[in-house]
Amino acid sequence: MADLDDIRDGSNFGLGQEVKKEGYYLKGMNNTDWGLKNRMSRIFNQESGRSVMLAFDHGFLMGATSGLERIDLNIAPIIEYADCIMGCRGMIRSSIPTTTTKPVCLRTDTGTTILTEMNHNVLISEEEAIRMNVSAMAAMLAIGDDATEALTIANFSRLVDIGNKYGIPVMGVTAVGKDMARDARYFGLASRVCAENGASIVKTYYTEGFEKVVASCPVPVVIAGGKKLPELEALELCYKAIQCGASGVDMGRNIFQSEAPIPMMKAVAGVVHNDLNPTDAFQLFNDEKAKG
Ligand code: R5P
Repeated sequence: MADLDDIRDGSNFGLGQEVKKEGYYLKGMNNTDWGLKNRMSRIFNQESGRSVMLAFDHGFLMGATSGLERIDLNIAPIIEYADCIMGCRGMIRSSIPTTTTKPVCLRTDTGTTILTEMNHNVLISEEEAIRMNVSAMAAMLAIGDDATEALTIANFSRLVDIGNKYGIPVMGVTAVGKDMARDARYFGLASRVCAENGASIVKTYYTEGFEKVVASCPVPVVIAGGKKLPELEALELCYKAIQCGASGVDMGRNIFQSEAPIPMMKAVAGVVHNDLNPTDAFQLFNDEKAKG
């Protein structure tokens, strides 16, 4: 029961002061719900508006690929340098400490190892995503393959319905068919299809003309790193994407397969959050590596 003694009437109503209208800092998010925005705010740095997401979901198609043999040994120690972690439920649950406060972007679809790029999708349940306290859910949307395009779009749309119901952002992971050029036209098309179907984040690949991919996508775009490159080239890739308007990276192999993953993560963060040019970022990588 409320305390009846010493009831103090309110006097500080801020009369004459307008209620502050929030201008949300991430593009395309103004008309989304509080919970969804709050989750996005955990993923994207509020000063730079960008994110370094660490991807380690590769095993669901590729198995124990190099750098992911032991998530507890190779990934868990480096997550503190990421803004967000992206992986599959089994590996997060078994190998990432529950004490982490890093936001989780959960790989929510699954597939077969036979179709290595195009998944026939199955979504994990919303109960499972909530149980894992996720900040975002990711699923592939693949265009250009007769057998799978409709399936992945239907699956993706269903995931957005779930996400919107619970205020959980959905990240569209773009893929293009093997007969399509991996260029701005087709990654731009796949990105736009993700956004049209309700993605809050789109993950795609950097290509020439990337500024058009970003401009025609009304929500934040992050890039995958792709196959392992020499560190300087990977940093150049990040830099070009950021200069074209990308909101960060969701990078895997170029970090966990680097000879020095933590220095690489710091160098990538320098590019993403501080607009470091590739030369300075590479210097940062070498300086951090030298510290041992
Ligand atoms: C692709 O479907 C996966 O989501 C990977 O996480 C993604 O490709 C990012 O990893 P990487 O930087 O190694 O390409």
